[in-house]
Amino acid sequence: MKQIFKPAIAIALMAFAAGGAQAASTGAKAFQSECSACHMAFPPNLLPKQSWDQILATLDNHFGEDASLDASVVSDIRQYLDANAGRFRSVPNPPPLRITELRWFRGEHGRMFKRAKADPKIGTMSNCLACHRGGATQDND
Ligand code: HEC
Ligand code: HEC
Repeated sequence: MKQIFKPAIAIALMAFAAGGAQAASTGAKAFQSECSACHMAFPPNLLPKQSWDQILATLDNHFGEDASLDASVVSDIRQYLDANAGRFRSVPNPPPLRITELRWFRGEHGRMFKRAKADPKIGTMSNCLACHRGGATQDND
């Protein structure tokens, strides 16, 4: 997949780690509270709209978990994610459901996958905050 930019992860992760969606719209709030129950609320700009739509359409079987929500809540969250999704030059069909399988991510994290698996404090590459922590994120620690 070709992507125009590498997202400004530092700022995004920091803001989300702090739980601060600045413009606390209904959708932003719902996303913050509902989508951070099992993992961090991932920065919306790391996936294209098509991916978020697909994720929200299949919450009853979400990576092996049932993450279903009321239709109205899903609709609020969709509005928020669609408005803040990343812009990608082209998106395959079906769209990717994981940030961690995107090519830039694999390129950036090549050696990290093994390390994440081996370290029980990290566990999986989806655990961004294990390595990108709060204020330190800007330096990409
Ligand atoms: C009941 C627990 C649960 C809830 C609630 C939940 N998720 Fe997840 N999510 C998971 C699990 C488990 C994974 C897979 C993590 C892994 O492979 O390490 C995952 C993975 C993801 C990924 C892929 C991460 C990657 O590897 O790149 C995205 C994106 C995602 N979830 C979005 C959402 C959104 C959006 C919501 C809210 C609508 C949500 N999740 C709510 C359990 C949950
Ligand atoms: C096992 C530790 C680890 C995990 C887990 C991890 N990263 Fe990283 N990440 C790194 C390291 C180390 C670098 C720096 C690579 C370099 O500079 O060569 C990096 C670089 C990045 C970059 C590119 C540098 C930048 O700031 O532009 C982004 C974006 C990024 N990570 C996002 C994420 C996201 C999002 C997640 C979770 C889905 C994640 N990372 C999970 C260790 C990790």
